[in-house]
Amino acid sequence: MLVLGIESSCDETGAAVVDDAGQVVSDVVHSQVKMHALYGGVVPELASRDHLRSVGPVVREALARAGVAMDAVDGVAVTNRPGLVGALLVGVQTAKGLAWATGKPLVGVDHLMGHLLAVFLRRGQHDAATPRFPFVSLLASGGHTAIYRVDAPRADAIVELGATRDDAAGEAFDKVAKLLGLGYPGGPAIDRLAPTGNASTVKLSAPMNAAGSIQMSFSGIKTQVAQLVARAGPLSSERVADVCAAFQTAVTSSLARKVIDAALREQVGDVVLGGGVAANSELRRRTSELGAARGIRVLVPPLASCTDNAAMIAYAGALRLGRGERDGWDLVATSETVLARETRKGRGRR
Ligand code: KG4
Ligand code: ZN
Repeated sequence: MLVLGIESSCDETGAAVVDDAGQVVSDVVHSQVKMHALYGGVVPELASRDHLRSVGPVVREALARAGVAMDAVDGVAVTNRPGLVGALLVGVQTAKGLAWATGKPLVGVDHLMGHLLAVFLRRGQHDAATPRFPFVSLLASGGHTAIYRVDAPRADAIVELGATRDDAAGEAFDKVAKLLGLGYPGGPAIDRLAPTGNASTVKLSAPMNAAGSIQMSFSGIKTQVAQLVARAGPLSSERVADVCAAFQTAVTSSLARKVIDAALREQVGDVVLGGGVAANSELRRRTSELGAARGIRVLVPPLASCTDNAAMIAYAGALRLGRGERDGWDLVATSETVLARETRKGRGRR
């Protein structure tokens, strides 16, 4: 079964052709990151307009690279939640139009489900081993940060074990980088500078470090950096590197510990990292080391599968289509995930 996937939930327009075994036949991503860099973050209205310009060419390119026409495709899958509603609508309306015009079945896909199943995509030599169900997954991106238990590739078999109470981890990287004058997106810039700095010269407390808590928080550490910058005035490049090192160590050691603790608590053998923050070298290293010490296998998909892409949407859609699931023309775009949320923003015991 070949599925065309379309993704437009945030600042990447994606289209991909994937089969129901997860083999990626084509995967095209048009990133808007340069356009939003000017403003230091994603501007929703600009995102929608750019999706509108790009979605046609990106879909055509994905079909051309796969060497197939629409009649060879068995269905159309599209991200319809969660995300920026104006951005999502562009993908959803495009998918509906294509499905209607070609008589193919349509399925909506939850973007977070796509990320959680991206580890099953097969792209070639850099494929991670596939996890065994049940596994625990840390999904950390610019918009979401949560730890899930995945018992099966279905929304009703996935539970959130803990999530951020406030900012997403990637958002914290982006905001801290902005405070340090490092531009957008901040994650790669901090990742590059951190190894050249000395973390022990900057006092930052790790976020929500209470033993046993799988919930997270990243706005406090961002405020600590803001106060440090306000107190110290313009920082030398050496000092900027020290702050990057301290921030990255605090965030990644907390994430690594929480996801491994979650796996031990749930008695599962496999941990998967996903989302753009999974590109972080220190997070990969710390989680793998901690996992190895506790007898847990840590799987990190290739970068193209971690960051936003339509291949993960096509694959999650292929599984839905394979189960006989279909959506109608009333499929809506919404900012809410289908996955049950356990963590309430700003609430509860820390
Ligand atoms: O998954 P993604 O491409 O898009 C969504 O947010 O859905 O993730 C982008 C986020 C940004 O916040 C970016 O700063 C962060 O992932 N990121 C990183 C790294 N590369 C990207 N964060 C830390 N270290 C990195 N190497
Ligand atoms: Zn994403």
